[in-house]
Amino acid sequence: MQEWKFVSKDGRPISIRPANTNDARNIFDGFKSVVDEGVWLPTFSPNSTLGDWIHWIQRTSQNREIFLVSLLDGVYAGHLTLQPEEWMASGHVARLGIIVVEEHRRVGVGRALMMAAEEAAHAEGFEKIILSTFDSNDLAKSLYDSMGYRVVGYRMKHFKMPDGYINEVLYEKELLRKQNV
Ligand SMILES: CC(C)(COP(=O)(O)OP(=O)(O)OC[C@H]1O[C@@H](n2cnc3c(N)ncnc32)[C@H](O)[C@@H]1OP(=O)(O)O)[C@@H](O)C(=O)NCCC(=O)NCCS
Repeated sequence: MQEWKFVSKDGRPISIRPANTNDARNIFDGFKSVVDEGVWLPTFSPNSTLGDWIHWIQRTSQNREIFLVSLLDGVYAGHLTLQPEEWMASGHVARLGIIVVEEHRRVGVGRALMMAAEEAAHAEGFEKIILSTFDSNDLAKSLYDSMGYRVVGYRMKHFKMPDGYINEVLYEKELLRKQNV
């Protein structure tokens, strides 16, 4: 099984690997905790069951979806998903989703997940990654900017959150082709 290794800003090991069904409980709880923060994701309740996450992880062994988990010093810290765009002619494009749980943010887990995801996406034949975030999400925007994602547009007032409207920022990045040398 493929594994990527990094070191956090405070010196702890970060391991990234494909998710398996034993991770589903941590992933489910992690997603729920981020939804419960109420400020980062455009949903007000998790709207999914543990079984949904198990099925999603299982599906990734049969399709082109990529599901990565990050462990910080052996403890679940977050996860990342890549899903092919649905149009037949857009099968080279993957849509990225990422969360890092609150207690493990700002030490490099998000960056490690993104770096591993680009390699995994390239290996799967994807040529481009797209994603979006709330315009109010400075941490996410700074991560995407620093990794070379470019802003390709805004959807104004796209989300109506409890504290008011939020614009959506759309990002994309074309993955570099590896040269045969
Ligand atoms: C956005 C998110 C995935 C980033 O993950 P993270 O592990 O916290 O990010 P990292 O520690 O890898 O930091 C990445 C970059 O963020 C930036 N950053 C760090 N702290 C920051 C701060 N306080 N304010 C603004 N930017 C900051 C830096 O540019 C950092 O790059 P560096 O490594 O060169 O310093 C994570 O915060 C998260 O899951 N948030 C809630 C859910 C969410 O927003 N998901 C994305 C929705 S699109």
